[in-house]
Amino acid sequence: MWKQSERMDKLPPYLFAEIDRKRKILEEKGREVISFGIGDPDIPTPKRIVDAMKKALDEPSVFRYPLGKGRKDFRKSISQYYKKNYDVSLDYDKEIAVLIGSKEGLAHFPEVFVNPGEFTLVPEPAYPVYKIGTYLAGGTPYLLPLEEKNRFEPQLGSIPQDVLGKAKLLYLNYPNNPTSACATKEFLSDAINFCKKWNIILVYDAAYQEIYYDGKKPVSFFSIPGAKDVGIEFHSLSKTYNMTGWRIGWACGNKEIVSKLAILKENIDSGTFEAIQLAGIEALSGPQDDVHEIRGIYQERRDILVEGLKKLSFNVKIPEATFYVWLNVGSDGVEWTTNLLEKAGIIVTPGLGFGPSGKRFVRFALTIPKEKIQQALVKMESLWKK
Ligand SMILES: Cc1ncc(COP(=O)(O)O)c(C=O)c1O
Repeated sequence: MWKQSERMDKLPPYLFAEIDRKRKILEEKGREVISFGIGDPDIPTPKRIVDAMKKALDEPSVFRYPLGKGRKDFRKSISQYYKKNYDVSLDYDKEIAVLIGSKEGLAHFPEVFVNPGEFTLVPEPAYPVYKIGTYLAGGTPYLLPLEEKNRFEPQLGSIPQDVLGKAKLLYLNYPNNPTSACATKEFLSDAINFCKKWNIILVYDAAYQEIYYDGKKPVSFFSIPGAKDVGIEFHSLSKTYNMTGWRIGWACGNKEIVSKLAILKENIDSGTFEAIQLAGIEALSGPQDDVHEIRGIYQERRDILVEGLKKLSFNVKIPEATFYVWLNVGSDGVEWTTNLLEKAGIIVTPGLGFGPSGKRFVRFALTIPKEKIQQALVKMESLWKK
């Protein structure tokens, strides 16, 4: 009876909501399910941050509309965090806007710059929201395959000139979901020069910047000369501090780009709950031992899974960052995933859900305890022995 908009017609079922539905159906049938599906940390938010939130709730002023680009003290702590961690300078007043999670900002961002008939340059496989945000703005995503032979970097030289003439945004996400690849300084520098040449905004998604292994810190986007001339970075507390449910992130970078996003948001939402912003100050400014511990937990899980998959004769690349293992299963990933779910009760995400180049891949999220990973490996071994 109610005909939905053509924009809505373009939206695929949200990948992770689908996976969660499958899990619930099996669990309702009494099956035990081990889920490597969604990248949602199982480890609780550090106590110091929860305590800061409790304290913030004693201050009645936090109950009002937050409004604007976010609390000044939180934006200051973001700016100090970039200086300390990445030696990057950000003006807290003009170059930072607080978000209700980075997904919210990423989903709304194309509305600021993209008109119907214009393109966004979207890598695939990728986090689905870049494509979804483009559709909601009436634009057209032009897909850029990320392939292992190219270190999972998009081949910017392959984009036709007529697309480039109408392209407004280039999305990059490193450390990358789902491939777990990290960017090199050279690639980022080339991408920045490319965006300058074609007058394209570089949208950098840094959600996994702090989830890295073996002490090897991934390159920070704004540490590359020229990044702020064309770039906006989306970052978040979600993955670093196990705060996915709190909904807090930020956009930072080029002041003109950031301020336009803030204007759009003023017209849509009324800001991020101030008590959460106060807890965010504690997250970024307090002692960071918990982040170190969190990395150690993922690293142990990564090693168990990678070793186990190798024993099962898979050719698996060891991730240097993110909490994902991107596995080439050498056959159709959707069939592989369905087989694993039906026969062993194990959920992994089919790579195709992130884009056509993920067809022969599946993604494991390391967001379950190591004992579960070990159990899953035993189940997989008996499945393939049969
Ligand atoms: C690549 C990437 N970017 C952004 C997000 C969104 O994170 P949040 O909205 O919790 O900040 C995610 C979440 O899974 C992600 O994988």
